Amino acid sequence: MSENREKELSFDEFDEILNPGPDVTEFEKVVNRVIGRRGFLKGTIAFGTAAFISGSAASGRAGNIARGRLGFEAVASNTLDTVTLPEGYKWHVVIRWGDPLWSNGASFDQVTRGTGASQELASGDNNDGMVFFQDSGKNILAINNEYTNRSIAYGNRESKSPETDDDFRKGKAAHGITVMEIQQREGQWIVVKDSPFNRRITSDTPMELTGPARGHDLLTTAGDPTGAKSLGTWNNCGSGRTPWGTCLSCEENFNGYFSASAEDFEPTDDMKRYGLGKKDWGYGWAKSDERFDLSKHPNEPNRAGYVIEIDPVDPGSKPKKRTALGRFKHENAELVIAKDGRVVVYQGDDERGEFLYRFVSDGKYTLGGNNGDLLDSGKLYVAKFSDDMSGEWLELSPETTNMGSFSEICIHTRQAASNVGATTMDRPEWVASNSQKNEVYCCLTNNINRGKKPNKGGDKTPAGGPNPRVANKYGQIVRWVPENGNHGADKFTWDLFVIAGNPLVHKDEYAGSKNITADNMFNSPDGIGFDENGLLYIQTDGNYSNTKDFAGIGNNQMLVGDPNTGEIRRFMVGPRQAEITSITWSADGKTLFVGIQHPENGDSHFPDGGNSVPRSAVIGITRDDGSKIG
Ligand code: FEO
Ligand code: CA
Ligand code: CA
Repeated sequence: MSENREKELSFDEFDEILNPGPDVTEFEKVVNRVIGRRGFLKGTIAFGTAAFISGSAASGRAGNIARGRLGFEAVASNTLDTVTLPEGYKWHVVIRWGDPLWSNGASFDQVTRGTGASQELASGDNNDGMVFFQDSGKNILAINNEYTNRSIAYGNRESKSPETDDDFRKGKAAHGITVMEIQQREGQWIVVKDSPFNRRITSDTPMELTGPARGHDLLTTAGDPTGAKSLGTWNNCGSGRTPWGTCLSCEENFNGYFSASAEDFEPTDDMKRYGLGKKDWGYGWAKSDERFDLSKHPNEPNRAGYVIEIDPVDPGSKPKKRTALGRFKHENAELVIAKDGRVVVYQGDDERGEFLYRFVSDGKYTLGGNNGDLLDSGKLYVAKFSDDMSGEWLELSPETTNMGSFSEICIHTRQAASNVGATTMDRPEWVASNSQKNEVYCCLTNNINRGKKPNKGGDKTPAGGPNPRVANKYGQIVRWVPENGNHGADKFTWDLFVIAGNPLVHKDEYAGSKNITADNMFNSPDGIGFDENGLLYIQTDGNYSNTKDFAGIGNNQMLVGDPNTGEIRRFMVGPRQAEITSITWSADGKTLFVGIQHPENGDSHFPDGGNSVPRSAVIGITRDDGSKIG
């Protein structure tokens, strides 16, 4: 979600204001700065063939990177309120927030911006992670709907906030997941209204809690004394795909929806670690649904913060929250298979100074076998990076964490990771595995607290290793190679694929790494994904002010990187204020689906122009000659 919106604060800003973490002493600040500089210089040693990182902005920048496998002309940055693509490519809108999925649903109303009833029959708001599936020749998209922009969704209200019970109903229905069948007509994809595949999963959809934490005391609530069920999902950020045909949906900033009505309410330490406090982030859900009131239902938030597995081709199936993958602010879930067939899921926890995780299943994946519950038992690990470019996965077990049980670790995963001394990271966003190599990439989007403040658990955040810059405002992408190319191995080596920056404004480490130039600069890498040729698509959710530190960067964008050469080229510029998020391909590889999230702030009218309400949308990108993308 957005980094510099004016009317609504970003999630991490809300967290900082409402639930500030502990401060560090002046002495620690100085020490951290020194470590930070040394760490950055050590980070100049990139392993393998790709020595991208320049210690000096003056050397080797811009213009000397050979034309690689990227077969398109770079797009210049801009601040237009549209999508800009290279020559030979075009785009169309597939679906927007509020477009009905069924013929009895009302078309989006520009004045009211919808009602509870219309929203329940329509695509959700702020599309994020999405996965394309094909079943019996039918094309299906499963799309996360992360949150609502209240000033837009309730733009018809004086307060620009939910005021009536129906407003709350609309808001809750705008969250969750949209599953829909699509078909191509005259080269453009459209939703198949009334398809039996169409489904809305919302903040009120019944779900199962599965895996080690199922039935734990911390999961029991007034609504479910068994601790085995959960009601709904919200703030679904990135997603993932399993080889057995299911979709993974990741719950991220679930905390921002809870508040407490009791005057003397004090959050517990465990609540504070997850950013839960007396106030919510403006959604006000507790006013219409008391399970969001922490003073009345303190265990309710323990039922959120998981990875959910859904069957996109069975609309009657019950979503399953897989507690074995841990509870934190999940960004996405990148699933790969270890050499021995075990399932490995890499996952980031997107908050300043939080961690990077790995799940390894006990069971093994077999093609066509019964893989349905592989994500219910296994081991959880957290990453520790060393300055010598090596790293290891630290197991989170009762023995290593001094916690009572693995079930508890699956609920208080952050606390467990702090107990083993994992590396605090610069907000791990999407993780993606190279389709051509056993190497994995993770966007570390930014972290203005790096070297300045500990994380919410009090873990220090010195600059160094894969997080080399103090008060990191531009972000970087770390990558690692598992030992012997085996994702099941506990050791890895790492380097930084790119350090984002602005070489027009800075001459120090904030200029970025050598593969950043005036022509491809960006900030806050977030979504990433590989095409079948092993090219890396990089999407941004950053500062789009186009001034000061961000002068010349323009709107958020999507770039393509070649992992073999380090070359990065801008492929797309998004509309004003919007974030570019998530990417998935059609079965024939000829359409690239991309998410345009939160055009807003009264300055965007994407995608319909004029004075229309800005609406998040999924777009399809195709080539004029009809050939594959990537
Ligand atoms: Fe929903 Fe961390 O992005
Ligand atoms: Ca982000
Ligand atoms: Ca994101």
